[in-house]
Formats: sequence, C-alpha cells, structure tokens
Amino acid sequence: MPEPAMKRYYITTPIYYVNSAPHIGTALTTIVADACARFQKRRGRAVYFLTGTDENAPKVHRVAQERGVPTQQFVDEMAEVFERTWRALNIEYDVFIRTTEERHKRVVSEVFRRLRAQGDIYKGSYQGWYCVSCETFFASSKVDESKTCPDCGKPLEWRDEPCYYFRLSAYEARLREHIKANPDFILPETRRKEALGFINEGLQDVAVSRTGSDWGVPVPDDPESGVVYVWFDALLNYLTATGWLERGEAYLDTWPPDLQLMGKDILPRFHATIWPAMLMALGLPLPERLYGHGWWIVNKQKMSKSLGNVYAPLEVAQSLSDAAGCELRYAVDAFRYYQLREMPTDADAEFSLEGFEARYNGDLANDLGNLLHRTLSMMHRYFGGRVPDGARLDAGLADLFAQQAARVTEAYEAVDFPRGLREAWQIIGAVNRYYDEQAPWTLMKQGNAERAGQVLYAGLIAARLLSALVEPVMPQVAREIVRQLALDEVPTWSDAAQMNALPAGHILQQPTPIFPRLQAKQPSPTSQAPVASASPPTSQAPVASASSPTSQAQQGATTMQNTITIDDFKRLEIRIATVKAAEPVPKSTKLLKLILDVGGEERVIVAGIAEDYTPEQVVGKQIPVLVNLQPALIRGIVSEGMMLAADVDGKAVLLHPDREVPSGSGVR
Ligand code: MSP
Repeated sequence: MPEPAMKRYYITTPIYYVNSAPHIGTALTTIVADACARFQKRRGRAVYFLTGTDENAPKVHRVAQERGVPTQQFVDEMAEVFERTWRALNIEYDVFIRTTEERHKRVVSEVFRRLRAQGDIYKGSYQGWYCVSCETFFASSKVDESKTCPDCGKPLEWRDEPCYYFRLSAYEARLREHIKANPDFILPETRRKEALGFINEGLQDVAVSRTGSDWGVPVPDDPESGVVYVWFDALLNYLTATGWLERGEAYLDTWPPDLQLMGKDILPRFHATIWPAMLMALGLPLPERLYGHGWWIVNKQKMSKSLGNVYAPLEVAQSLSDAAGCELRYAVDAFRYYQLREMPTDADAEFSLEGFEARYNGDLANDLGNLLHRTLSMMHRYFGGRVPDGARLDAGLADLFAQQAARVTEAYEAVDFPRGLREAWQIIGAVNRYYDEQAPWTLMKQGNAERAGQVLYAGLIAARLLSALVEPVMPQVAREIVRQLALDEVPTWSDAAQMNALPAGHILQQPTPIFPRLQAKQPSPTSQAPVASASPPTSQAPVASASSPTSQAQQGATTMQNTITIDDFKRLEIRIATVKAAEPVPKSTKLLKLILDVGGEERVIVAGIAEDYTPEQVVGKQIPVLVNLQPALIRGIVSEGMMLAADVDGKAVLLHPDREVPSGSGVR
C-alpha cells in the first residue's frame, strides 16, 4: 500500500439513527469527537472529521410510516434536525454523510459484490429469532422462554427465509490476534476485554440481507433477496466518506481512520468484529484506534421516551443560560464542558441538571471565570490595564504550567477528557494559591507595584495557556478569554506553552463576566424532571420544558410566614465592599453603576441610589453588599450583587462599618 503524501487525521462518530432527534447520549459521542478533532487541529494536524446519519434502518422506515410521512421526506427532515443541533453545539465536522446518498449505495453494492465473488458472502437460509429494534438475529441458544431480545428486552420475531451470510467466523482467529498484538486498537481497557470476551465466545457468520421491506440498499443482482443488512451498510459509511471507489489511490490521504468513537453498545458486536473483518476481507488497513465510551443514565435508568427521561442538549444549555443569565454560546460551551468533564469512560455515569449546575458554578464561575475576572480587574485597578515593564513568570510556576500542559496533552490524546480537564484546572488552583500567598493587593498597599505586577502576570499567562487548553472543549469561551486578554487568536498548542508571551505595554480589555454565578434554587418537585423530550422532526415548535430553575426559585420564595431560619440567613453572603468608582447609568435618573473591591475581587453592581447620592459622595465609602445574589442584566450592565442601605421614607441612606475594615470582610 503506497504511503499517502499527507495523511489527514481521520476521526469518526457512529452515524446516528434518525428515528428520534439527538439527545445527550448521541451528543456525547459527537462532542467527544469534536473535542478530539479540535485538539488535533490545534496541534497542527490536518483533520478529517466525519459524522452523519444512518437512514436505511427498518426502524427508521417504520417510524416514518407510523407518522404518515414518506420515508425519504422523514429522513431528509431528520438529517436536518441533526445537522442543526450539531451546528448549535459548535460541532466542526468536515463531512456529514447520509446513507441514502447514491455514492454510499454504490459503495455498499460494490463491497457486497466483491465479497460475494470471493466467497466471503454466500447464500443460505435463516431460521431464528430477530429483533427489529436492534436489527439483529439471535441464535436460539441466546433466547429464553420470554422470546424477548437479550439486548433491549423487546419481543422477538420468528424469521424463516433465504438470506446471504458474511463469513465472519473465518476471521475470528485473525481478529483475536490483531487485538492482542495492538493494545491500543480498542480503548479503554474495559472495552478491549469485553471485545475479546465476545470473540472468545465464538463468532458465527452474520446474516447480511433482510426481506420484509424494500427500504435500504437492494441486494445487488438479486433483488428477490431483499435489502442489505443495515449494519453491513452503515459501517461502510466510513469508507464511502474517503472517496474509496471514486478517487483511485487518493482516498488514502484519509484512510485508515486514526480514531473511531462510539458508545459501548456498538463496540464488541459491530465495530470490533464485523467491521474489521469486512476490512480484512477487502484487504484494507484497519482503523488505528476504536474508543468505546460508557453511557449516560438518568435517575439510574437508561434514557427512554417511555420513561420520559430524555434530555435534549440544546434545551439543557438554554435552561442554564436562562437561569444564570449567561450568554447562550457560553452555556453551550458549559454543556460541552460538563459532558467531557463527567464523560462516562469505563462505567456509565449519571447525568443530572444538578450535576451540571454544580460544575458550572464550581469549575466555570468560581474557578475559570473568576481567575480571569479578578486578574484583569486588578490589572486595570493597579496598572491601568497595561502589562507592566519587566513582568515575568516565576520559574517555579513556569515549570508547573509546562508540566500541566504536557499532562493535559497526554490525557486528551488518550481520549481521557475528565483527566485532561482535572490537570488543566490544577493551573487555576496553583494561581489562586499563589495570589493568596503573595497577596498582590497588600503588595500594592506596601508600594511594591513591581512585585504585584509580577504576581498578576502569572494570572495572565495562566489565562492565555488555559484558553488553548480549553479550546477543544469550550471553543467560544476560549475565544472570549483571548478577547479579554486583547490577543488576536487562541494560541496554538505549541505556542501556548510560551511562558512570557505578553509583552510589557500590552493593553488588556476590561473584564466582562463570562459565567455569572447561578443562584442556589429552592427544592421543587419538578427539579428532577428532564427539561425536554426529543422533538419530532415534523414539528418546528419548541417542545415543552419543565419550569426553569429561575422560575422555580421564584415560586419557592413565596413563603407562608414572614420568618426565616438561621440556615436561611446563612445562605446570604454579605460582605463589606469598598466603592472604587461610580458613575451614573446612562438614560436613568435613579441608577448608579458602582465598581467595588470585595477583597481582591472586583465587582460591578447597579444601585438605585442616584436620586440620593452623587457618584463623588459614594467613592471611597465602605458598604455592605449581598454578593451571592443571582446576577441580573440591568440596562445592559451585569449587576453582580446588591448593596444594602437603610430605607427612610423611600430614600436610601448608606450604611458604613464603624471603622475601616478590610474589603471583603464578612457580615454576620
Ligand atoms: N446507527 C447506529 C450506529 C451505526 S455506526 C456505523 C447507532 N445509532 S444510535 O443513534 O442508536 O447511537 C449512536 C451513538 O450514540 C452510539 O455510539 C451510542 O452508544 C450512543 N448513545 C446512545 N445513547 C447513549 C447514552 N444514553 N449515553 C451515551 N451514549 C449513547 O447505534
């Protein structure tokens, strides 16, 4: 096989059945693939990322019939729903393949003919049990009294018909050898063991034609035998997309795949056996790596329409955006972050809105968002937003950053995003500890601006490095970080490790919160409910969603009595802030915008005191502020808290501590 001049990094997702719209499970495989593709691109590789839709399945045809829509129209609409969803989730695929495309049907027919001509496909007859939902035949030995599918539990149908078989059994020994000789062929290790276990049970020839419906690719030269088995058809999409059959040797600029991603359900039986055996029969190189992730479960159960626990990805992102007041594009990124940070690898994992919100508030608002915000705020307050002369990263931190970047690289390469993100977040922890130890605010008070600049430079370099490390996961957030750092673009993977990349005199943008904090919500009976069910393709109307966390909080706030418990009070975080700057809010007679120092952290709030105080009267004053109030957008300004004042006949009267206290002191 000639070595192609420039092999692209070829990465695939499974192609999705279009009988229902995308949900968080199908989104998982796609988001993992997108993160891998973006990571490889950032490392300078030419990437070819394939996804698409599996449209020839009998179950797709059945659902179209149930809805009374012509099947072709149904699959056209559903393919559109998938493409729209992936675009909205920022999935940057290169090709979206559909198995109803003519070029794909040609490949399926040609492969069928070739394998039949060489004896790897032969005609026989089939008697046995068939699961329409899984599109799979089961040997009688695998079926018990209930005559239900061993995989999905649905009733099986008895079939007795002539059919073609693929000689899978002939490849059993070669497959086993290949898996044993290539420890990275199937990942993670649990899946490799599962696949070997499946093969060791003995591989039987697979029925690769089906009668009963004419939806699909007709068996070539023998239409009486029905259509080609949908899995035999679908797996070949990976080959069609390279231009095999059409582009001569040029398809080798992509083939073989470097990484094929999928869920655990379709690895042993299909991707680790039938698929490589088909390629062996065709004399083609096998994929380098197959990665099978675990499943999302909801309330400890498999998601299903009948249980009503199916989450739609965009609705999950939208509900966070509504509740937190966070821009939708960043809420989408937060959703991608949650998917990858909690990604089920070996075992299945529980998906919950509470888990998502906790990651949002903790990792994104408190850690990443706050690091950027406080660093830029202090740079503006102390240095007018200009990188001071002579600022360099301390050697110890430079080593730590480089070491963490290498660890992230290694983890992403192994498709271990939970580990990669944990390693990236170590950088944030290190900078926060460094700030606490070095206390740049105290250094400033002591007149040591040079050292304070040095310390804050670590935060800037960390933010720049993090923009690159999080880009595969949160592309929009990465871009916003570099915008606030006043850089043109997210640094490439190798450039990100440059530790003194921001020159003296570089002017930074004003900080803008990316992830406003989400308020703790009142427990509500609906808080466990999924936000949406997958929408049918024929309806453009938004599907019903449970009440958003904001409205739940508002409902919960209506109490029967006007008393609260001490625990209620403890939920309020009131701190003493020093007013650093104040200005009237344009086009308002009542509002002032206040810039506060809340102990090394800068906050902006909008206060309704303009009729009682001028900006000059409040600058320098210390005031109590409720800092864990849900941020609100007031006249285009994100207000991150509320000042407390006495109310005297409708007029605000400021409250002050009885002597000056450190900014950020708690109030009890
Ligand atoms: N059409 C076949 C694949 C053919 S590939 C040649 C198929 N489609 S699917 O739509 O049912 O599933 C597609 C992918 O979504 C699979 O990787 C599957 O594992 C994944 N998931 C579906 N539900 C899932 C969860 N609840 N959790 C995680 N992933 C799951 O199979």
